Amino acid sequence: MKSLLFTRFFIFLPWILIVIIMLDVDTRRPATPISPRPYFSPYAVGRGGARLPLRRGGPAHGSEKRNQSRPQLQPEPQLPTIYAITPTYSRPVQKAELTRLANTFRQVAQLHWILVEDAAARSELVSRFLARAGLPSTHLHVPTPRRYKRPGLPRATEQRNAGLAWLRQRHQHQQRAQPGVLFFADDDNTYSLELFQEMRTTRKVSVWPVGLVGGRRYERPLVENGKVVGWYTGWRADRPFAIDMAGFAVSLQVILSNPKAVFKRRGSQPGMQESDFLKQITTVEELEPKANNCTKVLVWHTRTEKVNLANEPKYHLDTVKIEV
Ligand SMILES: *[C@@H]1O[C@H](CO)[C@@H](O)[C@H](O)[C@H]1NC(C)=O
Ligand SMILES: *[C@@H]1O[C@H](CO)[C@@H](O)[C@H](O)[C@H]1NC(C)=O
Repeated sequence: MKSLLFTRFFIFLPWILIVIIMLDVDTRRPATPISPRPYFSPYAVGRGGARLPLRRGGPAHGSEKRNQSRPQLQPEPQLPTIYAITPTYSRPVQKAELTRLANTFRQVAQLHWILVEDAAARSELVSRFLARAGLPSTHLHVPTPRRYKRPGLPRATEQRNAGLAWLRQRHQHQQRAQPGVLFFADDDNTYSLELFQEMRTTRKVSVWPVGLVGGRRYERPLVENGKVVGWYTGWRADRPFAIDMAGFAVSLQVILSNPKAVFKRRGSQPGMQESDFLKQITTVEELEPKANNCTKVLVWHTRTEKVNLANEPKYHLDTVKIEV
């Protein structure tokens, strides 16, 4: 009886062993597809284990995605930077005007604000304001010489020139000028966001209508067959460029290739600043009309009413000092 049991045991034993081996191989089978892993692991060993190849596979996919998205991101740096040169001076409405301007500029991609104070030093008000404005900016200052602070003389000449000088200095060492456009953004004007789309494609000098200026509802360059042929203006139409400071933009390249072009004090009459400046860098024939061949007003020469501070106290001042 016992021998029968033994013989049966020895007959089944090989089968049992075969089944055990089969099962074992089966459980290993899922591992076999990863068996190439060891081929990668030599690279990974120094970096911490066999799992790394899998992880490396991950970032590889990630970088592929990044490569794909890179061409989409690329146009952004290619977008010409718009440099807005804004002369400003201390007055009761200054912060209100700058706030309005910053709220506009903040909605414009790739805009650099060059704020130039008419002052012997940077004011705390403007410094604080710019620090919180959330805009790429440059804060300059230059005082207007006393002899030029008279009614009837052009204003903001030194400040605009300081902005131009900063731009030229910043870009002087570049082999090839980065695409850029500059315009003179006085702090009291009102700007449509559409204007920035228009001016960004400026190749040399572009022009457009300006609203509420020169004693008229608007002034504009007259355009025929896509070329400027004259000026619709109520004041000195004989000016070579009868245009307001808010009515044109200049490419950075033109500013850099005309290093001596500045706003002149000597011999310049009020209202001739724009013309005197543009004469140095372009011709009427070269002007690029924007805003639908100069038929749309996208900027307004607004003026803030002079504030009434008649009741401002001389004594019994407020107990806290508040910046306005
Ligand atoms: C992703 O870009 C990098 C750097 O330009 C390059 O080395 C890599 O081969 C690119 N990868 C793919 C999947 O195109
Ligand atoms: C401006 O006028 C020119 C010539 O008449 C025309 O070819 C062009 O399409 C016009 N541009 C716009 C934006 O209307």
